[in-house]
Order: sequence, then structure tokens, then C-alpha cells
Amino acid sequence: MIEPPITEYGVLLESKSEKPPICTTLKDLVQELHAVFSEDNVNVEYIHELMSSYKSNPLEWRRFAKFDRYRYTRNLVDEGNGKFNLMILCWGEGHASAIHDHANAHCFMKMLHGQLEEIRFAWPDEDDKTELPENEKGLAELSRTNLKTNQVCYINDSMGLHRVENPSHSDTAVSLHVYCPPFDSCNVFNQRTGEKSKSKVTFWSKFGTRKNADDDSSRQPEDV
Ligand SMILES: [Fe+2]
Repeated sequence: MIEPPITEYGVLLESKSEKPPICTTLKDLVQELHAVFSEDNVNVEYIHELMSSYKSNPLEWRRFAKFDRYRYTRNLVDEGNGKFNLMILCWGEGHASAIHDHANAHCFMKMLHGQLEEIRFAWPDEDDKTELPENEKGLAELSRTNLKTNQVCYINDSMGLHRVENPSHSDTAVSLHVYCPPFDSCNVFNQRTGEKSKSKVTFWSKFGTRKNADDDSSRQPEDV
């Protein structure tokens, strides 16, 4: 087995006992995220509750929500003083990510619009599988979760890998993501063989502005 990277998940839960404030606007949420991430410890439960307390208001986030007709997009909202990245991902009908890890970072995902399906997988077996029959080589599916507007989910590498997809063929989806610490590449996995490869992650827009409209490299976001 590939050992999942060690994270501080268990201890982090104990580092903050007070209830988080309720964020009534996106601006409040950004401000609170800056405050919590200015500390060295990351309290997963606290941030989960903080993000849950914000009720999606499209008027506040639509200037960041820039879609591509071919693939889902990653749109940077805030760089979090280098401690975290806040971004909005826009999913067209049927768009899906690759199966990926999270580069040893914490990942929080909140639905702002529509629905997403999160499919979680176990890390691949490191042993040589060339002798195994085809149907036993792939990644083992662990769970499927349907996320609806305003729900929040959390993952780190100790919990496995995942793929995220918009199962709807008639509605788009928009999600808000916090990554701590920020990262610019992760691993993507072949579901059938378990093979992994490094993938750079890019932004489709930054701070509400699409700068590289003609740059094809920004069409390759692989992570969420
Ligand atoms: Fe992800």
C-alpha cells in the first residue's frame, strides 16, 4: 500500500473549542478565514462550521463564476496571505474532475449552486499488479456523496482520493473551495490501472478577471 501522507487531522480537532461566528456575507467569510488561518493550527471542524454558516448568495459570487463550455474551471477569489487559497469552481453540465489527491493539504468544498457528486477512492496498492485480472487492478471505490447547495465536505490525503462531478445534464454547478496550504500541482490517477501522474493546477480567472483568454494551458485544470 502507498501510505497516505501524515496529516494533523486528529490533533487539529482539539485545538479550538469556541463556536465559530455566523458569516452572513461572502466578505465576512473571507475575513473570518483570514483570521483562522493566521494561526498555525487548522481546526477542521471549526472551518467546516464557518463555511456551513454562509448561505450562498449568487449576487456576491457571480463575478468570480466564469465557465468554460468544455471543462470545469478554477477561479481564484483570495490568496489568503499565502496561508490558503479560496477559489470558485464552475461546472458545466456533466463536467467532472480527474481522480486526484490533495498534495498533503486540507480541502474544504462548499456548494454554492446546483449539486455535485463526490466519489471517494482508496489509495492504489503499491504492489506489482501485472498478474492480476483486469477487473482487480483499478482503484477501489469507498463512497459516493451527493452534495446540495450550501453543504460542505472535507477531504485530506489520509482519507483517500476523490473525483468530483456534476451529474446533471441540465443544470450547472458552482462550488467554493479552500485549500490550506495552497498548492500548484497534485497527482491524478487512472481509475482502471491505479497509475498516477503529476498534474499542474491552473486558474481560469483571478479575482474576477480572465487574463489568459487565449492561453490554452489554462484549459487544463485537473484538481478540485
Ligand atoms: Fe479535490
